[in-house]
Amino acid sequence: MKANSTGQKKTMEFLSQVCVFFFFFGVKVYCQHETYQWEEDYDQESDYTYQPEFQFHQNVEYGNPFHQHTLGCARECFCPPNFPSSMYCDNRKLKTIPNIPMHIQQLYLQFNEIEAVTENSFINATHLKEINLSHNKLKSQKIDYGVLAKFSSLLQLHLDHNNLEEFPFPLPKSLERLLLGYNEISRVQKNAMDGLVNLTMLDLCYNHLHDSMFKEKILSKIEKLMQLNLCSNRLHSMPPDLPSSLMYLSLENNSISSIPENYFKKLPELHALRMSHNELQDIPYNIFNLSNLRELNVGHNKLKQAFYIPRNLEHLYIENNEIESINATMICPSIEPLHYHHLTYIRLDQNKLKEPISSYIFFCFPHIHSIYYGEQRSTNGQTIQLKTQVFQRHQDDDNDDHDDHHNAYEDGEQEGTEENFDPHYYEIQEWQEII
Ligand SMILES: *[C@@H]1O[C@H](CO)[C@@H](O)[C@H](O)[C@H]1NC(C)=O
Ligand SMILES: *[C@@H]1O[C@H](CO)[C@@H](O)[C@H](O)[C@H]1NC(C)=O
Ligand SMILES: *[C@@H]1O[C@H](CO)[C@@H](O)[C@H](O)[C@H]1NC(C)=O
Ligand SMILES: *[C@@H]1O[C@H](CO)[C@@H](O)[C@H](O)[C@H]1NC(C)=O
Ligand SMILES: *[C@@H]1O[C@H](CO)[C@@H](O)[C@H](O)[C@H]1NC(C)=O
Ligand SMILES: *[C@@H]1O[C@H](CO)[C@@H](O)[C@H](O)[C@H]1NC(C)=O
Repeated sequence: MKANSTGQKKTMEFLSQVCVFFFFFGVKVYCQHETYQWEEDYDQESDYTYQPEFQFHQNVEYGNPFHQHTLGCARECFCPPNFPSSMYCDNRKLKTIPNIPMHIQQLYLQFNEIEAVTENSFINATHLKEINLSHNKLKSQKIDYGVLAKFSSLLQLHLDHNNLEEFPFPLPKSLERLLLGYNEISRVQKNAMDGLVNLTMLDLCYNHLHDSMFKEKILSKIEKLMQLNLCSNRLHSMPPDLPSSLMYLSLENNSISSIPENYFKKLPELHALRMSHNELQDIPYNIFNLSNLRELNVGHNKLKQAFYIPRNLEHLYIENNEIESINATMICPSIEPLHYHHLTYIRLDQNKLKEPISSYIFFCFPHIHSIYYGEQRSTNGQTIQLKTQVFQRHQDDDNDDHDDHHNAYEDGEQEGTEENFDPHYYEIQEWQEII
């Protein structure tokens, strides 16, 4: 995923000796000696870094009706005078939960050694809105029954990176965000999610969930759910009966091999679907015909064929599959001049392509900025380079070294007002607007 790309700086520069000129719609599009830092845009796409939240920032504004009470901070913790409703107890090797004064609303207990949550732990802390207990040693049997449900104002609960084996139950009905990634959850009570009417974000990545967990339609009851993360679990099929409010679905790194024909019909709001590192092989041709889909990642699967590309899709990742050829008229059967497809970016490396997609693709997808072909595999397993490794449309960027190409624009590109193409930036913007 995006954003924290600054970490890895193993710069791979692709110098492609390709200089081809395409002329379409009076637009000159060229490939030149590209010096492009692919690691920023692509590396973390393949070895996706786990980040529970999609890139939008939810600014939770907590009211603070308790200014006057700054006393009572637990000895082990720190209560900043300028944030009197917060108590910081993180990184303190704590084994138990300290006393929490009644006025505290945000409680930070991450990176400790807490195993248990007992009745007494939170005896007076009835105003808590956010509890961060991530990176502890919580065990399911050591959480007293009902203790979490008592926080009738709780909005955010971070329980990721613990040793939970069971989905915590019962939970407060006020909850909006629940983070449970990196546990060992393999059991979920069938009524575990009943009443979570305000939950919008549920992260269950890196657990031990099997298909059987979804038998009882448990997720369909979370009627406001917008984001569901089930990456790195043990799923073999698509989770059924998801709530129709869903906008972001993450299923990377499971063992899903097929998608039922009408699966997405019940998910009309879907904006982003991440399914890389699965076993997808044959999928229905128009399975992704979803009018709101903006991002689709089906890289690292076993797909042999491309599929219909919906009109609003912007970013498509199909690298590391078994695709031998892409018929442009199939992925884009019709062009309607007033309703252009929005695709800007395709990643296609590590397939079995023998030639670039026919240039018809630029008529159908006039917003395309780049197509990354990278290396392809031949049928005997060797890698081959297509003549075009990177297709990149000329852009009017800040670097003056492209100056001599500026007149490539002279005929006036119809829709050529897009900013410099940076997938991160683009996507983040987009998602901020959506939320
Ligand atoms: C809880 O509140 C009661 C009454 O205000 C007080 O006597 C007691 O010490 C508090 N307990 C803890 C654990 O803070
Ligand atoms: C809670 O802890 C996690 C570490 O697991 C951290 O990433 C997150 O930012 C914390 N949340 C807040 C609001 O501090
Ligand atoms: C759900 O959210 C709405 C709007 O913020 C709020 O009025 C309602 O009380 C919440 N429901 C629960 C069960 O907390
Ligand atoms: C994929 O999931 C498995 C557990 O199912 C996990 O051990 C592995 O680290 C995950 N791979 C990645 C790249 O996250
Ligand atoms: C995609 O869906 C629209 C309606 O949502 C329909 O009109 C169109 O024919 C579909 N296209 C394909 C290729 O299935
Ligand atoms: C591409 O697909 C179209 C429509 O399905 C078909 O008519 C055409 O023959 C195909 N072209 C190639 C080269 O396979």
